[in-house]
Amino acid sequence: MLGSGDPVEVLAEWLREAAGLAVAFTGAGVSADSGVPTFRGPGGLWQKYKPEELASPEGFRRDPALVWRWYAWRMGLIKKARPNAAHIVLARLEAMGLLMGVVTQNVDGLHQRAGSKRVVELHGNIWRARCTVCGYRWVLTNPPGDDEVPVKCPMCGGLARPDVVWFGESLPEAALSEAIELMEHAALVIVVGTSGVVEPAGSLPLLALRSGARLVNVNPEPNRYTGIAHLDVRERADPFFRRLAGVMGILLGQA
Ligand code: OAD
Repeated sequence: MLGSGDPVEVLAEWLREAAGLAVAFTGAGVSADSGVPTFRGPGGLWQKYKPEELASPEGFRRDPALVWRWYAWRMGLIKKARPNAAHIVLARLEAMGLLMGVVTQNVDGLHQRAGSKRVVELHGNIWRARCTVCGYRWVLTNPPGDDEVPVKCPMCGGLARPDVVWFGESLPEAALSEAIELMEHAALVIVVGTSGVVEPAGSLPLLALRSGARLVNVNPEPNRYTGIAHLDVRERADPFFRRLAGVMGILLGQA
């Protein structure tokens, strides 16, 4: 049955009916209301910057310092940002036993900062670095300064890279299989703030759909899931989840 009536009431009911078998699938748009830019569309990063120069293995080989400076700039934006109502409500739903976890394409760590425990990161994390020589991984607490790029490995001194997935690279196997498992078991998938065009991530909600799950699509613009979702919410993430919090009696605290 397609959702009718106020979308927050419908989602609140579907969350209860899913009895804990709900999962969220998020993209850059979930962090847009926190001030983190998306990739596509007006004001998106790929309007201004070239992905092949800044988010590909070839670009990194050509100019690792330039790539690091761009990531350091994004880390600065993310550090200043605060989780919005969407991040916080998803974390609370997990704590209430109504959500299994969040599968995200984002690298910003805002779901974890909002309190989400099970966060499956399909595209890595911007706060982690990885040595291209010995494979050592570690967490950066601050964006590297201009005199610290390209970042070097504290173990072997080799060239390090951001531990994120670039164009042409495979997704981390463990994250992808955990995401597939969640999708196959889900009775409800809440898609928030993604264009859905990047594969294989974008196809994950379709996997759930094929297994009989309900699909809810929260996005102010039409996207890949428009027309196939059972409930299309044409609204920004923060105000929509604020209203959902009101209907479900979830206190937002600092958001
Ligand atoms: P995109 O930039 O492709 O899409 C962002 C989506 O968020 C669009 O559909 C917008 O309409 C929507 N949006 C914008 N503001 C919103 C708001 N306030 N609330 C809700 N939605 C909003 O970002 P992704 O789909 O995440 O990959 O992109 C997928 C991947 O492409 C990224 O993970 C990144 C990028 O290249 C890698 O870096 C590997």
